Parts: sequence; structure tokens; C-alpha cells
Amino acid sequence: MLTTRLASIADVPAVQALCQMQTARFHRADPRLPDQVILSSWWILPQDGACWLARADSTLLGMVVAEAEHWTVDSPFASVFPRRYLRLQLALADQADPAAILPLLLARAAPEQLMRAGSASSARPGLMVMTPACDAALSAVLTAEGFTPYHAIAHQPLPERLPPPPPVAACVRPAEWGDINAVADLMVESWQFHAAHQPAIELSPLIREGCRRQASQLLGDGYNQLLLVAEYDGEIIGFFAIGLSIQDPLTRPALFLRGQYGDIYEVGVRGDWRGRGIGTALYHAAWRWFSDRGVGAMFVNYAPTNPLSSRFWPGLGFVDAWINWWRP
Ligand SMILES: CC(C)(COP(=O)(O)OP(=O)(O)OC[C@H]1O[C@@H](n2cnc3c(N)ncnc32)[C@H](O)[C@@H]1OP(=O)(O)O)[C@@H](O)C(=O)NCCC(=O)NCCS
Repeated sequence: MLTTRLASIADVPAVQALCQMQTARFHRADPRLPDQVILSSWWILPQDGACWLARADSTLLGMVVAEAEHWTVDSPFASVFPRRYLRLQLALADQADPAAILPLLLARAAPEQLMRAGSASSARPGLMVMTPACDAALSAVLTAEGFTPYHAIAHQPLPERLPPPPPVAACVRPAEWGDINAVADLMVESWQFHAAHQPAIELSPLIREGCRRQASQLLGDGYNQLLLVAEYDGEIIGFFAIGLSIQDPLTRPALFLRGQYGDIYEVGVRGDWRGRGIGTALYHAAWRWFSDRGVGAMFVNYAPTNPLSSRFWPGLGFVDAWINWWRP
């Protein structure tokens, strides 16, 4: 019979073994995903959350860590997600049936934590959980439990060469300080587009200020990150913010195998210029910057409910690796 209880410090070795089993299973199903995970007791016994275990007799079959989170005001996401939410981290044993265990763990973790999670906005706090895109059984159970994809993390090895880009009138170049306000305007427009297609996104009155600050930060040092803009007739009509990302099993979450990756942070093209090759031209410039720096693979976050980005990235060869699910 399945039973649940809160974890204690004595459970750390068993939880560690469970997480290693799950990571190895994910890696076998999708070799792009990390093959090892390093845990510590502070992770399974979080200050602002709880860890529940599901067992059959003395065998540990599953675990959920539920932790209240929110984007702090210095994060760019604070102005598009101004609420607290519960981050769930799941681990299931190879022999566990997700359809039997997940509902049990969700029922244990959610209500108690939701009581404490509170909210920084009018919206109720919700639940976020990330799973590998290849895990069809887990996806089916989460869908049945009322979760929908919030964003996908898509990946592709850096192609050796790209097909020639469509000819565009715009000039693609690194951004300068004078471009920051125009890039911030494009970011706001891009978030408005996202918000129209993803109910979990809520734009705060601070969105303009948040985007301006983020655009200034993205200008970066030009070495570890780069802000590219597309300019036509003196106007900025598109941007790509990219950077180098080190994936290491010590960082949480470790999304991919250890190595240096090209991370595509934020992109946007002005509404009247979309579908005319500007995004593709910016992508070509990003690809050149990544290849000059020996990047082996790239990854990007996009919203599967966004009708433009959900075509654009797969069209360029990106394949989903992780899905971040949301339940209000
Ligand atoms: C997603 C986005 C950045 C893509 O930029 P874009 O300039 O529209 O992209 P492109 O024009 O290069 O490519 C988009 C489509 O137009 C097609 N296209 C490219 N050049 C074209 C041209 N000269 N004429 C007609 N169509 C063209 C592409 O084949 C592509 O087709 P697909 O949708 O079937 O894959 C842009 O649409 C956008 O800003 N969307 C709103 C905000 C957003 O979604 N941000 C993304 C966050 S991840």
C-alpha cells in the first residue's frame, strides 16, 4: 500500500539514490539531459517549503519538494510574473507508476504550501513543475491533473553551417547604449504578445522600467553576452540577446550535460516586421557569434502557447528538452 510522509534529515541518502535513479533514466531517454545530480540536505528540506515522500512498505517510490518562490524586484521576470508560486521538484523511482503516485504527492504538497505561499498580486499563486519533454507518461498525468505547458526549453547542437538567410533590408549589428530605449520598447511589445497567449503571464505597471533595466543589463560586456539589433531606416525593428552559459551538475537546475552552451535569452521583432526574415537574420548573427566562441549547442526558452515562437524555434531546428508546467 502507498503511504506518504514528510521527509526528515535521515531520508537524505535514500532521496539522493532516488534522484540519481531518475536522472539516469532521463539521460537514457534523452542523452542531452544531465546524467548526474548532486543533492544536499538543504535542498530536500527547504526553508520555505516541504518535502513529501511516497513509499510502498519500506521502498521509496517518489518525492516532491514544494517550495514557495517569487521573482524579486531586481529580476526581469518580476514585472511579468508578479506573484508567488510553488515550485515543485519531482523524483520518481523507475518502478513507480506516475498515475498512482503523482496525484497523491500533489495532494500532499499543494494545499498546505498554497496556504503559506500568499500572493504579491491579485492572482492566486499556482504550481510550477519542470519535466523532460521526452517523458510522455509524466506529461499525460500532469495534463490530467490540470497542468498546461508554461514554457519549453528547446535545444540543438550548433549547426556547422546554416542555409543562406532570406535577404532582408535591415542591418544587423551589436547594440549601443543609444539603442536601449528602443530595445526596451520591443521587449514590452513582445511581453504584451506573450501575455495575450499565456494566461499565467501578468504584466505589472513596472513592465516598462523592468524592460529598460533588463535591456541595459543585456548590453553586457560584449564578451560573455551580446545584444544584437536589426536596424532599418534609423529605427530598431528587432533584437536578440544571447550569452554563454556553463552547464554544470553543481548548479540547480542542471538542464543539460556539462559544457559550454549558447543561451538565447530574449528576442523580439516589431509587430509590423514579423514574418519577413528579421528574426532569421538575427539568428544567423547569433550563430556566427556562438561558433566563434566554440559553443557546442544552443538552448532557448519559449512559450508553446505563443503561435509565433512555437513555429519559429522548431523551424530553425530546435527540439524541446524540458517542459515547465503551470497549474493556477
Ligand atoms: C518570434 C519572432 C522573434 C520571429 O521573428 P520574425 O522576424 O517574425 O521571424 P522570421 O520572419 O525570420 O521567420 C518567421 C516566419 O516567417 C517566414 N519568413 C521568413 N522570411 C520571410 C520572408 N522574407 N517573407 C515571408 N515569410 C518569411 C519564416 O519562414 C518563418 O516561417 P514559419 O513561421 O513557418 O517558421 C517574432 O515573430 C516575434 O517577435 N514574435 C512576437 C514576440 C515573440 O514571440 N517573441 C519570442 C520569444 S521566444
